[in-house]
Amino acid sequence: MTIRAVITGVGHYLPERVVENAEFEKTLDTSDEWIRSRSGIERRHFAAEGETTSMMGTMAAKAALADAGLTAADIDAVIVATSTPDLTFPSVATMVQKELGMTCGFAFDVQAVCAGFIYALSNANAQIISGQVKRVLVIGAETFSRIMDWTDRATCVLFGDGAGALVLEARIGTGTSEDRGILSVDLNSDGTYKDMLYVDGGVSTTGTSGKLRMQGNALFRQAVQKLAETAETAIAKAGLTPADIDWIIPHQANIRIIEGTAKKLGHAMDQVVVTVQDHGNTSAASIPLAMSVGRARGQIKDGDLCVAEAIGGGLAWGAVVLRW
Ligand code: UT7
Repeated sequence: MTIRAVITGVGHYLPERVVENAEFEKTLDTSDEWIRSRSGIERRHFAAEGETTSMMGTMAAKAALADAGLTAADIDAVIVATSTPDLTFPSVATMVQKELGMTCGFAFDVQAVCAGFIYALSNANAQIISGQVKRVLVIGAETFSRIMDWTDRATCVLFGDGAGALVLEARIGTGTSEDRGILSVDLNSDGTYKDMLYVDGGVSTTGTSGKLRMQGNALFRQAVQKLAETAETAIAKAGLTPADIDWIIPHQANIRIIEGTAKKLGHAMDQVVVTVQDHGNTSAASIPLAMSVGRARGQIKDGDLCVAEAIGGGLAWGAVVLRW
């Protein structure tokens, strides 16, 4: 008997405020043309004053629960992937748990920056297949606008806010790649790359939350290589080849990284879910957002084989192969 963690619901939330590239031309030496051509980003959503990561995560969770036809009472655990929590502690996950009216089960955060949702999915999968839980809400939620240095044109034009969520449920499978659910996971990190992407403040150093710093060009070169490698590894672990994959669901950092990775995997762009033009880089929220939008567009169908891949600060990177 094989237990599989199967996606039974998906949802997302985006803040109301949409900021077009042209907005940045007013305050920075930049242009819509530069942002579009270098990153593929056209607009992004920014949270309103007082709108927090847990609020957005809760909205996405409610949408995923409705999609699954479940209520919070059916859920055993809440895992939130985020690097932009409301408070240093408690976890965003326990705040979401409260807002959903859950007083049982357990909730915690996972911090692996832009790869956070892959790490959270891996954790949820492990808990489901070990029989510890039956239903898990896995959420990616971020307010990266709060850690932007608005004078740094090389970073502040790239990021956005939002949240996405999945409901994962235990189902009995056959143990083959024909099963629905998570089929394989590949996780990696290497702390020697810390300076490529980090936030220059924190509890035990400055006592502030700090601002994002990135060596974009150096990271770009690592990203395409490492994303293609981790996707290929996860696909091989599932006993599959890249040609078997119906959809690549990439972390949405830069259209050129997304295109480069798809090319290395031998896929045309019509097999890639792309949302970067509308959301910018929403860190751990970007993959569940792309999943939710991809489903709403009618791109990802039941039974489709998908590989989700992401890289971010750490560096931390990884991929998950799943059949929807
Ligand atoms: O989510 C985690 C993973 N994140 C990533 O993987 C991000 C990876 N990096 C990237 O996406 C790209 O490297 C960027 C979009 C950040 C930058 O694109 P690039 O093609 O690597 O540009 P660059 O950093 O090499 O900069 C090229 C030029 C520089 O000017 P000089 O030195 O050639 O005179 C920059 O100062 O573009 C300049 N520049 C800008 N110009 C106009 C940097 N930012 C801007 C800007 N507007 N906003």
